[in-house]
Amino acid sequence: MEVIQVDNYSAMSEKAARMIEEQICKNDRSILGLATGSTPLGLYEKLIEGHKTCGVSYKNVQSINLDEYLGLDKNHPGSYHTFMYENLFKEIDISMEHVYIPNSKPLSAGEECQRYDQVIERIGPIDLQILGIGSNGHIGFNEPGSDPNSTTHVVELAASTRKDNAHFFDSIEEVPTHAVTMGIKSILKSARILVLASGKRKAEAVKRLLNKDLSESFPASHLWNHEDVTLIVDTDAYKLVSQKGSEDLAR
Ligand code: GLP
Repeated sequence: MEVIQVDNYSAMSEKAARMIEEQICKNDRSILGLATGSTPLGLYEKLIEGHKTCGVSYKNVQSINLDEYLGLDKNHPGSYHTFMYENLFKEIDISMEHVYIPNSKPLSAGEECQRYDQVIERIGPIDLQILGIGSNGHIGFNEPGSDPNSTTHVVELAASTRKDNAHFFDSIEEVPTHAVTMGIKSILKSARILVLASGKRKAEAVKRLLNKDLSESFPASHLWNHEDVTLIVDTDAYKLVSQKGSEDLAR
């Protein structure tokens, strides 16, 4: 795992945006794995800026999102469909026919998971997967205890996750209890993975990740089983990591 330390959220977002743009420059038909949450918001702003001022084009890019809440209308302000459209897709030239997000109101959640796996199979492998990290170590919505061999599946969200994500809703009661997420196995099939972590709220999770707390109770630790992971972490998120420990372990 390569660890890149940066000063703050803005520097993290900038660095991540340049990595994505380099990927697109290398291959304008790249498949991006996209994430939601507060963490990638700055990254998406920088990508929009790069598109508008430098002409970076997403015309041939396809994107596969990690997850979606179950039970919300697609147009609900808290859905990840809305999140992605409002914070990225509507501002760049990506074709909406090239973006994939799990259906939030499928007739059958089980069939939706199968359909999404087929999408990943058909479109993928993902060239560059962006990941945030939950304060409890979740990736996508793979909560502590998730099966490392899982593909797309339905999850019951941890109470801490619903609390963390409540700021995207009017109240915590509105946060759905379940979601569909790409599984750990599907995530690890990506060619490259870029993990972003910013702020004190992530310091404990970053410490556990870099101290190689390898266990199913800490889903992000499965990232150690992938050979091309880059973590971009800012000073606040890095502050619980002992310098020596991280230098040794991040090799
Ligand atoms: C949600 C998403 C995750 C994301 C996490 C972190 O739970 N499903 O993919 O990594 O939020 O959220 P934030 O970036 O807001 O801290």
